[in-house]
Amino acid sequence: MRSISYDSSQFPKPRISALPIPSLTAFSINSPSIATGVLTLKHVLHVHSGRYAIALALKHAGVGFGDSVLLPAYHCLAMVEPLRLAGIKPVFYPINANLSIDPTEIEKHVTEIKAIIVVHYFGFPQNFSSIRHLANRFGLILIEDCAHTCFGKVNNLAVGSLGDYAIASTMKFFPIGHGGIVASSRHQLTQVNLINPSLKVNIKTAINLLEEAKEYERLGSLSGFFDFIIKIKNRLMRIKKQHDIKLQTAEDAHTKLEKTPEYAVDANRLYWKSSRVSQFLIRHTNTQELIKTRQKYYRMFLNVLSNRNDCHPLFSTLSDDVVPQVFPLYVNRSLPVFIQLKKQGIPIIRFGEFLDEKITDQFCSVSIDYSEHVLQFPCHQTLKNDEVEWIINHLVCALDELKRH
Ligand SMILES: Cc1ncc(COP(=O)(O)O)c(C=O)c1O
Repeated sequence: MRSISYDSSQFPKPRISALPIPSLTAFSINSPSIATGVLTLKHVLHVHSGRYAIALALKHAGVGFGDSVLLPAYHCLAMVEPLRLAGIKPVFYPINANLSIDPTEIEKHVTEIKAIIVVHYFGFPQNFSSIRHLANRFGLILIEDCAHTCFGKVNNLAVGSLGDYAIASTMKFFPIGHGGIVASSRHQLTQVNLINPSLKVNIKTAINLLEEAKEYERLGSLSGFFDFIIKIKNRLMRIKKQHDIKLQTAEDAHTKLEKTPEYAVDANRLYWKSSRVSQFLIRHTNTQELIKTRQKYYRMFLNVLSNRNDCHPLFSTLSDDVVPQVFPLYVNRSLPVFIQLKKQGIPIIRFGEFLDEKITDQFCSVSIDYSEHVLQFPCHQTLKNDEVEWIINHLVCALDELKRH
């Protein structure tokens, strides 16, 4: 893993959430029909998150200890961890500047690998039919990673249809706290025995969501009522914490307090179904509205940031069948812009900021370049118009200020 050149503890908590936030208006009472994508594939399982979906797809395909799986050089560690958990060796392939794959790079590895993971980055579906042909020819399992692309079509087929398995990270698209999908249009998934999380997990999920909604002022006039529930939960947590600490030795307590990395995979959660609360909220989201709002916000970013010479959008057009996860912007002098915006509480996601140590400039210069220079700004449907404007204004100011120096 490469080292970082800033201290993230200097940054305040973002003033707006990078992920969708629940609110009283985010859901509808009825269950509107769901837009085409991973959720409309023939076989769908709701699991804890995208990384567990990768682990389960590989397990279902019979890929395990000692096998090798091919991954893109531009990745996040949450894609590598499920492999490590199962004792699978990750092997990497380089990617092109437009984030597409050169099939000859895959062909180099066909004798050593059992499966290939391909990614539709940032919400923009890619045509992977040449990779599907390769997989057929050499008997490989194809996993379509749709963590960024829950919705959309390629060649008139739902995204995820080409893979033996598709995986998604529903919490990037719905205000649900946690959630992922393993889906397949080719294999029945009935043999996977998932465990329903306990009532306690469901209640905790619901209260955490309320807390998040309150923090970002999404509860409107009901804020006072929900405050009461949150206070009771915090009181119970404090009592539990005091009790736990009494039971632990000082050493135990220290181990427990160590921070879990953001990309970690917890083996205990592998077979967890997504909570009932999260599944209920997905069913009650109007996905057509979600799509329109995300596209509108993406275009607001495009309008302002398309014609500058100090940055460029990674995808400079947005067609109506693309549902963006974020607005990915290539920033020439990315580090000072990133630091200034983070200090101002602007939410920024940096997919691929930390890459596996095998990824060097010689192996894939595009991945190294994007890891450093591509900043992703949220354009999710639960943002308000003025919040998107606020992000854009601060971004433009940071870029302009840097130009003056
Ligand atoms: C491309 C990709 N795949 C898989 C994952 C894992 O998803 P999750 O965070 O839901 O576990 C991520 C997470 O950011 C991702 O970006």
